[in-house]
Amino acid sequence: MAHLRFDGCDLVELAKEFGTPLYVLSEDRVRARIRELRETFLDRWPGTSAAYASKALQTLDLCRIVESEGLDLDVVSGGELYAALKAGFPPGRIHFHGNSKTPEEIRMAVESRVGRVIVDNRTELDALDREARSARVRMPILFRVTPGVDSHTHQYMSTGDLDSKFGIPLDPSVRDEYVGAALRMEGVDLRGFHFHVGSQIFSNESHRKAARIVADLAGDVRDRYGFETRELILGGGFAARYTSRDEPKPLAYYTDAMMGDLRDRFRELGVAMPRIGIEPGRWIVAEAGITLYTVGSVKEIPGVRTYVGVDGGMPDNIRPALYGAEYEAAIADRPDAPGTRTVTVAGKCCESGDILIRDIALPDPRPGDILAVFTTGAYTHSMASNYNRLPRPAMVLVRDGAARLSVRRETYEDLVARELPS
Ligand code: LLP
Repeated sequence: MAHLRFDGCDLVELAKEFGTPLYVLSEDRVRARIRELRETFLDRWPGTSAAYASKALQTLDLCRIVESEGLDLDVVSGGELYAALKAGFPPGRIHFHGNSKTPEEIRMAVESRVGRVIVDNRTELDALDREARSARVRMPILFRVTPGVDSHTHQYMSTGDLDSKFGIPLDPSVRDEYVGAALRMEGVDLRGFHFHVGSQIFSNESHRKAARIVADLAGDVRDRYGFETRELILGGGFAARYTSRDEPKPLAYYTDAMMGDLRDRFRELGVAMPRIGIEPGRWIVAEAGITLYTVGSVKEIPGVRTYVGVDGGMPDNIRPALYGAEYEAAIADRPDAPGTRTVTVAGKCCESGDILIRDIALPDPRPGDILAVFTTGAYTHSMASNYNRLPRPAMVLVRDGAARLSVRRETYEDLVARELPS
């Protein structure tokens, strides 16, 4: 029987060649998403920009792909910034985010002259101003604001509610203090505002509400300070398809609605339309990735359930345990065989919650089979851990039927390399 293929590559062969667990990322699919973004957003709406939110998945290869497709890059820590620079990403196209940036990270952002710092709080604003003045530069900034909308996603993925650790509340007393302070500072150049309502959001309602709120904010600060908002970033959060029950809408469903609303609202307010940006992460990479595991054991508890144990689990994909995220999978050795047995796919960690997929119909899984779990491109590799001292998986990049090792597998030696025993 023919094996399951992904972008022209035989997945059983990939597992043999590179071992499991294995992250497989399709370069073609990443590029196709970015092109769709270009056609349906950047080209349709002049004066717009887009950054890839690299927290979803960041490798040196992926930074280069994003760079070559012309997107900007959003980083959220010194580590992500370091890797982006190491990949040769132009600093002027990097946006530096984070709700608790350290003094070292702020210095790094200034020294490397990142294109934008998205400022989240007053301590950071003051520190950035000091660093920039001592380096004799003026850092372009946006304020991350909290629009106070509920995005109806998992509580851990919601970021735009009023009670959020992210962003500056829009209460006029707070807002005015920030805007007033920034406009007096020589080290920062306030360009506008940024919001992000949350992640894996199927409806465009919360995005639209937040966009209208932030347009009004632009009107308010124009009236109060004569300040012209030149840039607005509308965040990411656009949903990907994880299971056949998911019905994500195309990107344009979110962006056309927001752009239309913004154009109308800015016209009413008599404010010039600022440069509008988005920063999707998951939407670009989730469906471009799959993870391969080897089935180790099949354990039937009569009348209860059958556990299929695999050689990875929560260390390479924490999402089921952390968010109750659901995935679909197939046996790569027999993709066309009917799913005759309902099983639960269990990871190998000493943790009852280490379940990758509950109750999935598979074609009688057997030890040695290769299990392919779909839509694992986002927030798996980037959230991976070494729990139970499992080495982190390798990643291969596939393109036009060819596969190339992009990230090597961690070794046991790597696992103890930082330790300094007496
Ligand atoms: N911009 C900002 C400021 C963000 O905080 C995020 C995600 C994004 C953009 C990209 O969001 P996306 O387009 O990927 O939804 N670990 C969770 C998701 C956390 C998202 C955090 N922020 C998960 O695995 O579902």
